[in-house]
Amino acid sequence: MLDVVYVLDSAQRPCKAASPSINETSFPSEKRMSIKYELKNLANGKAGVLNGMSGTIGPNVLDISHLTRDFGVFTYDPGFMATASTESKITYIDGDAGELLYRGYPVEQLAEKSSYLEVANLLINGVLPTREELDAFQRSIMHHTMINEHLLRFFQGFHHDAHPMAMVSAVVASMAAFYHDTTDIRDPRHREIFAHRIIAKLPTIAAAAYKHTLGQPFIYPHNDLRYCANMLNMFFAVPCEPYAIDPVVAEALDLLFILHADHEQNASTSTVRLAGSTGANPYAAISAGVSALWGPAHGGANEAVLTMLDDIGSAANIDKFLARVKDKSDSIRLMGFGHRIYKNFDPRAKIIRSMCYRVLDKLGKSDNPLFELALRLEEIALHDEYFVSRKLYPNVDFYSGIIYSAIGIPRSMLTVMFAIARTAGWVAHWQEMVSDPNMRIGRPRQLYTGAAKRDYQPIAKR
Ligand code: CMC
Repeated sequence: MLDVVYVLDSAQRPCKAASPSINETSFPSEKRMSIKYELKNLANGKAGVLNGMSGTIGPNVLDISHLTRDFGVFTYDPGFMATASTESKITYIDGDAGELLYRGYPVEQLAEKSSYLEVANLLINGVLPTREELDAFQRSIMHHTMINEHLLRFFQGFHHDAHPMAMVSAVVASMAAFYHDTTDIRDPRHREIFAHRIIAKLPTIAAAAYKHTLGQPFIYPHNDLRYCANMLNMFFAVPCEPYAIDPVVAEALDLLFILHADHEQNASTSTVRLAGSTGANPYAAISAGVSALWGPAHGGANEAVLTMLDDIGSAANIDKFLARVKDKSDSIRLMGFGHRIYKNFDPRAKIIRSMCYRVLDKLGKSDNPLFELALRLEEIALHDEYFVSRKLYPNVDFYSGIIYSAIGIPRSMLTVMFAIARTAGWVAHWQEMVSDPNMRIGRPRQLYTGAAKRDYQPIAKR
């Protein structure tokens, strides 16, 4: 049995104050290694020093990369509750304060002043683009919107009621087949083309999946439209009659996409990084991210919230529903509530809730019964000891499904919308990882609890 004790070294320094600088690309190593910890095996007295590392802002981390070499042990941390899997300069979350920064910029400011493509550019490149840079980026993205005609035929293999997330994941993976010999991940220009292509083509693939479920003809992209307007056109236009893009809807979509664009090392982004760390084709890595996002604990929660609200039916049933949520023998959860990082309001949920009022009003749908029900549910949960004591607050998915539905996005497409928006973040993280000369394959360890070594028994003797 191993007993260990951690002793904090006297050289401890507090976390650096919040002064993020987007132009700062590296930090002096002495700043990052300012804290030391002593780790001692109480069984044999062997001790060693572990370095603490400080980021720009946020908690310090303990560098355990030599732990196995020095102590012969691994760490055990199911669900990565206390493990930083990487160093990153892209997104910062302060879960206690309910704060989210993309490259240092508060998401509230970006939601108010920026656009999705500008945010995508910021996430990937680290700095806000100049007018010329943004125009060039937008032109490049809109230049790549078409998908190969052969790729379109892929959809014919799916039944009409296939879930769009399954189709999108499969078709994105199949892009690796189209670009396997033209994507050299060590070539910065190839990486850039990949980034622009995947951001450009995801809406086209999503629209093709949607049209397939409807049995309607595919609508080709219009590169003279803006990113979200083009998406709406591909989703809702039909060849036989004109379709007018509602600017209120296009603006709402753009704002939702900004809010979903990145969220540091979440499950799908970590999946993209892990798959990409093998040197796999990046389209395959993004496809892995789409699959990971689909789960109801992650991006699939937006669809699950609407199903939950339907099941609850009316405010009169909320108490009964919450009693089930709190009953540990019942497996249902209050979907759209709780978060691994946020122990306060998810700032994105706050923005989307106020956006719901604005957009529903502009669309003449202010008496939306699902929104009324969600507001009441939130109010009751936030005064309930169960949720208060566990610091469970509405997350980004609590209200996003309501607004997506109000602007006409069907329920089965909600997580697909999340995937389109999150592509910018996935690409930024993949780029950050692959352009690091020290990239290593991601390979966690395990605590083995299976059978010890034993001899094979012939079938007659079992
Ligand atoms: N409803 C009821 N109880 C909950 C909920 C919930 N939504 N979330 C957490 N809890 C309870 C949980 O039962 C546990 O209680 P206890 O300590 O008594 O065992 C405690 O709170 C801690 O929960 P946890 O499951 O250990 O927390 P986690 O960090 O592993 O899970 C989560 C985070 C998001 C998976 C979880 O809160 C959840 O399942 N929420 C509902 C699904 C959801 O809305 N997901 C979207 C997340 S935001 C979008 C995104 O970034 O993907």
